[in-house]
Amino acid sequence: MKRVRLTIPENDQRFDEAIKTLRTNILFSGVDIRKIMLTSTESNEGKSEIAFHTALAFARTGKKVLLIDADIHKSVLTSRYHLEEEVNGLSQYLTGQKQVGEVIYSTNVENLDILFAGPYAPNPAELFTGKLMKALMAGAGEIYDYILVDTPPVGSLIEGAIIAQYCDGAILVIRSGAVSYKWVQRVKQQVEKSGCRILGAVINMVNVSKSSYYNSYYYGGY
Ligand SMILES: Nc1ncnc2c1ncn2[C@@H]1O[C@H](COP(=O)(O)OP(=O)(O)OP(=O)(O)O)[C@@H](O)[C@H]1O
Ligand SMILES: [Mg+2]
Repeated sequence: MKRVRLTIPENDQRFDEAIKTLRTNILFSGVDIRKIMLTSTESNEGKSEIAFHTALAFARTGKKVLLIDADIHKSVLTSRYHLEEEVNGLSQYLTGQKQVGEVIYSTNVENLDILFAGPYAPNPAELFTGKLMKALMAGAGEIYDYILVDTPPVGSLIEGAIIAQYCDGAILVIRSGAVSYKWVQRVKQQVEKSGCRILGAVINMVNVSKSSYYNSYYYGGY
């Protein structure tokens, strides 16, 4: 397995505390809740941020974790954590160009492995429906304690609902004040229709400083 080096920024303390709470809540969701997707209604609600930091938080407690970037449309993982080398990814595995062992990378964080999204593919929904995704999730389930899957927003793309079929639970990330209750309910139903339990929601980017928007701190709370 190849290894990559991630540069991890320091977070706001309240953000870190919120992520630890989320980790605890996932741990207490049950022993059979190990494949977890993060999704949301719309873009920019914080899925990728929370998926990464939750994966990191699990790895730091000694759990063997695989983070899967299933956002083939708009992956941010490689740029956000300053990955310099070229990496293979999920789209290449799902199209049969690469074997699973060629697309999973170990990292400089002990216990954290990553499957990057890979180059853009025009038909992600079809790729996720095929048997390779199912095989990947089943195989990874044998090796890892936790598999966290970052997905595109369910409200605008179908992939999230397809990926939900292979997961034990989903966490809905909701950007504070950004989406309507009705819209979130619709997404919740769509995920549940795939047979995936909604474990809970993270209210993200809550403005905790009333005095000034620009000086405000944000946090994700479970
Ligand atoms: N709790 C937070 N505090 C501060 N910044 C945050 C927080 N959560 C997310 N952000 C920032 O908000 C932006 C959007 O977050 P992110 O990319 O995680 O959203 P996303 O839901 O994955 O979006 P997309 O649907 O486009 O994939 C990023 O710049 C991220 O760094
Ligand atoms: Mg994202």
